[in-house]
Amino acid sequence: MKPTLDFVNQIAVNAGDILKNFKREDLDIAHKSSRDLVTQADYASERYLIDAIQQVFPGHAIIAEESGESGGSKEHQWFIDPLDGTLNYAHGVPFYAVSIGYAYRGELTLGVVYDPERGELFSAQRGSGATLNGAPLQVSQYTELVDCMLVTGFPQEADNSQDDNAANFIRFNTQAQTVRRLGSAALDMVYVAAGRLDGFWQVSIGQWDIAAGCLIVQEAGGVVTDLYGGPDYLQTPSTVVCANPVIHQKMLEVLAAVRAERGVA
Ligand code: IPD
Ligand code: CA
Ligand code: CA
Repeated sequence: MKPTLDFVNQIAVNAGDILKNFKREDLDIAHKSSRDLVTQADYASERYLIDAIQQVFPGHAIIAEESGESGGSKEHQWFIDPLDGTLNYAHGVPFYAVSIGYAYRGELTLGVVYDPERGELFSAQRGSGATLNGAPLQVSQYTELVDCMLVTGFPQEADNSQDDNAANFIRFNTQAQTVRRLGSAALDMVYVAAGRLDGFWQVSIGQWDIAAGCLIVQEAGGVVTDLYGGPDYLQTPSTVVCANPVIHQKMLEVLAAVRAERGVA
């Protein structure tokens, strides 16, 4: 049995309420690595989401950031980030979200990102468009990079020595209107879907970070590929670029030029 968008919307809001109800001063914060954190809010939200899904869909496969793969039939595949933007959350910066994607037979069909601080629910069902609190979303229509506010992220665990994205950041910062680094890939992507931001890329990113956002951007008229223009953005770790079709193509060209200059394949 397949889930409905209503079901995914409801569990995303419930998980967001769990995150919002923790008091910062009571948070237990642990290090996953020297630069990466996890809090008991991440675990509480993830536990709630996995239980809620397994209660109704016991045979489904789930990939969740904190607990990994939980088995089940990959015909029904869930991707869960129970708290995207943990560093923001732990520092009291109110920019974080719950992200839930669902794929049927390998194709993303449902995506929901919920921002509990603003009560913003971004949702999409394949073929039915993307919405924010029920209102339709569309990517921006700019055709020149110089008009675009782009956004990116940097993997927390990386030592930033190989392809550290800094060269891409600097190049886009001179060619686009500006570049932001906001700390939640899920919100970055749905802001592109909403036309608030005009393009997002990241070099190393998890499936749970972007699955929901990919569908929401596509259903808002955007294009999503890996950094090379191909379809492998749901591998882990993967690369991703999304924007309206014209800006997406221009972003791919800039990224390829930076790679060529650096002698990186
Ligand atoms: C992180 C955020 C950040 C991105 C990192 C992710 P987390 O997720 O999405 O924007 O740049 O690569 O790991 O750890 O806060 O769930
Ligand atoms: Ca994440
Ligand atoms: Ca997370």
